[in-house]
Amino acid sequence: MSTPSDITHAAQLLRDGGLVAIPTETVYGLAAHTLDPLAVARVFAAKGRPKFDPLIVHVPERAELADLVSEFPATAVKLADQFWPGPLTMVLPKRDVVPDIVTAGLSSVAIRIPDHPIAQALLKEAGIPLAAPSANPFGRLSPTTAAHVREQLGDAVDFILDGGPCRVGVESTVVQITGDQVQLLRPGGVTLEELEAVVGSIVIPAHDAHPSSAAQPSPGTLPQHYAPGTPLILTVDDQSPASGKRTGLLCLTAPEDTSAYIAVEELSNTGNLTEAAANFFAALRRLDAAGLDVIIAQPFPNTGLGRALNDRLTRAATK
Ligand code: TXA
Ligand code: MG
Repeated sequence: MSTPSDITHAAQLLRDGGLVAIPTETVYGLAAHTLDPLAVARVFAAKGRPKFDPLIVHVPERAELADLVSEFPATAVKLADQFWPGPLTMVLPKRDVVPDIVTAGLSSVAIRIPDHPIAQALLKEAGIPLAAPSANPFGRLSPTTAAHVREQLGDAVDFILDGGPCRVGVESTVVQITGDQVQLLRPGGVTLEELEAVVGSIVIPAHDAHPSSAAQPSPGTLPQHYAPGTPLILTVDDQSPASGKRTGLLCLTAPEDTSAYIAVEELSNTGNLTEAAANFFAALRRLDAAGLDVIIAQPFPNTGLGRALNDRLTRAATK
């Protein structure tokens, strides 16, 4: 685990334009100084991320927002009261000070106040907003431990802060706020049901109807993403593995007979979606490292955090 002097060191590196991997309650992020376009460019290079995919800007508290966004409508206030700090990202109209490279040229900026003691301490110590995508190579599995970041990004990062395994385990929910309208751009750690309880109905755009990146309401929600190296098949019914293939199973709760599988990852033996989310990426990573020909994944109940998990599985599935 990182010490206070690690946090001081990381804060200095970030102010000087360095890249630091940081723990958050969702997944690990790859952070850079938001207002330093060269530092942000290094984030895109380290991840192999296309420049059309904008980054989330992290701040420690709401007082820091006034410099970055030009509007903070009443709906955003309600959501912030309920869910910040926490796994909710709000896309809001940006101010000119936010560089185009951060927002991919959009007139909006995505903002999040993370709920992790190390992320909070770092943001306060650094005194600058941190642009941070998930700390994985573009399109691959998101990291939920410091070791995952080291394996995937290694020397591309100047420093890694270790905050232990991430509590939530899937990325933040991304919503776009336009006046009193709330659009769900990416399901995540705050559930649709929780959002609706605060702001009423939510607009869900049909992203996948627009396969070209430019037409996406949220540029990063590409159909193929969050993928392991091993082919992954999302089953609808109980599917038995093809004979002769080394097959692994990813499931919420394991079926009675698993003898046909070489490796089984049961995400929660009580069927608890919160526990399943916390285990999700690490379990996929273990299956990916097990020398399998194929991973069969069973869909989750499409409710609560199950929606975010199904979203990630659909994008991870081999097309
Ligand atoms: O939990 C999380 O959100 C993590 C941690 C590190 O905070 N971050 C994360 O970042 O998942 P990333 O870059 O992997 O995903 C950010 C998503 C992308 O789908 C991106 O397209 C969308 O947010 N996004 C960012 N800015 C946007 C904007 N101005 N308008 C629409 N979508 C935006
Ligand atoms: Mg990501």
